[in-house]
Amino acid sequence: ALKSNRSRTLGMIVTSAHNPFFAEVIRGVEDRCYQAGYSLILCNSDDIDAKQLSYLETLRDRRIDGLVVMTAKNGAGFLEALSALPLPTVMMDAEPQPGWDMTVVNDDSRLGGRLAIEHLLAQGIERIALLTGPRDHARSRERLSGALDALHAAGLGLAEDWQIETQLMLADGHRAAHLLLADPADRPDAIFAFNDLLALGCLRAARDLGLEVPKQLSIIGYDDIEISAYLSPALTTIRQPIYALGTTAVDQLIARLEGTPFPGQTQLAPRLVERDSVARPD
Ligand code: RIB
Repeated sequence: ALKSNRSRTLGMIVTSAHNPFFAEVIRGVEDRCYQAGYSLILCNSDDIDAKQLSYLETLRDRRIDGLVVMTAKNGAGFLEALSALPLPTVMMDAEPQPGWDMTVVNDDSRLGGRLAIEHLLAQGIERIALLTGPRDHARSRERLSGALDALHAAGLGLAEDWQIETQLMLADGHRAAHLLLADPADRPDAIFAFNDLLALGCLRAARDLGLEVPKQLSIIGYDDIEISAYLSPALTTIRQPIYALGTTAVDQLIARLEGTPFPGQTQLAPRLVERDSVARPD
């Protein structure tokens, strides 16, 4: 009998091991690999070009059958190296590029951005600030355009200093919220933070300043990582189907490997999860 030259091993390069969001994605990826009889080699890139490139080489040498790459940054050198690899690949969090022969699995962040703002507006909140994540982050850019769509549709704009570019960790949210909330005479009534870690940082800043959430300040996040339901107040947020993003990416990759039809792009819908951190201002 012919011996298959498949290793039944998949590789994954993931953005950041520091953020629980990615741990939940990995859970989905790993569970599905296990169910389908594949082993998984996991590499953490911290979204650093040099690490991504070096892991790409390592994974190629390990003769993996296919690759899942999670990155919201379209780092030119890395994407070139990736396209040059004759390896079935599924991208997550990325922005599809013209001419790419790669499947992309994402949440519809434009819709998510819109849902967050529409929820605030429905509570009668119009003085809204945004913690936008990094500008070179594809998901954040989409969240921003969805948020701006919703504001514009309501005839509202956004004060320039109420739109703060941040990284995506707790300390970034904490720092940015202190900037936003420093002047008691000119405070927003709500902050839309582009991920839950940023929102957690905002909650802490509000507590530092003796501001009651949601009475004096509403906070809405994005992702719905597990801890967000257990905070006090529990975080209102936009839920990404995080685990399903992981399983879907592996399903698409296996479809590619088996030659069954697969879509070029899959967008999973986010949805609003109403908890206790948003309320109509007094
Ligand atoms: O919390 C991490 C964020 O970065 C998520 O919203 C995800 O989409 C990733 O890009």
